[in-house]
Amino acid sequence: MAKRPLMSGNWKMYMNTASGLDLVKSLKANCGDVKDRDILIFVPFTLLAPIAKELDGTNVWVGAQNMYFEKEGAFTGEISPLQILDTGAKWVLLGHSERRHVFGETNDLINKKLKSALAHGLKPVLCVGELLEEREGGKIEEVLKTQTKGGFKELSKEDAAKVVIAYEPVWAIGTGKTASPEDADEAHKIIREILASIYDQGTADNMRILYGGSVKPDNVDGLMAKPNIDGSLVGGASLKADGFTRIVKFQ
Ligand code: 13P
Repeated sequence: MAKRPLMSGNWKMYMNTASGLDLVKSLKANCGDVKDRDILIFVPFTLLAPIAKELDGTNVWVGAQNMYFEKEGAFTGEISPLQILDTGAKWVLLGHSERRHVFGETNDLINKKLKSALAHGLKPVLCVGELLEEREGGKIEEVLKTQTKGGFKELSKEDAAKVVIAYEPVWAIGTGKTASPEDADEAHKIIREILASIYDQGTADNMRILYGGSVKPDNVDGLMAKPNIDGSLVGGASLKADGFTRIVKFQ
């Protein structure tokens, strides 16, 4: 951990209004005393407005899990950056592996979304990460380069500095198999080198890179102890107040 940590949760397609509000009320109470790290949750679109309202003025921030890049139009079923902002949420998760691999999102599309989020003042978390066969085939660096360079295409240094990256190896998501702290730190180092090659070392050093993939209360401390790991993006374990609180309060 090298900078102010950002501890985030991704609820994916779980929770309803009642259970979501219950969870954030507990988080609010549990984490009110947290001063030295940031807390963020990505909730389903239908819960953005009530949860943003419940968390208004607290230290728990809210974001959407996806968006379309146009600000309005005939795009049935999509959500625009302006509509996200209208709910009170200020963050958006982009390029999650489930968007890439279940819904076929390309680096080009993700790049358009990233530019649009920044243009509208939404704070983006951009996910990158390799599949198991890519790791086993020795292609980690190549995949991270393609996804990072593709995601940041034509982004100015000033805009890039506003982006948080989440490294989520696909084989570690929802599988209970976490990357070891050493492997995760190594991948974060590679991503930072790619960023330094696109921009400069200072810009790369200042950007936060979160780790995601089976983060749990019992492995978070080891991951967060690593110099290149600046936070977590937690799926399953963010759905329970006590577990997520323990993760936020890693030691
Ligand atoms: P799990 O923590 O359930 O493995 O999910 C990780 C993830 O995809 C967060 O975005």
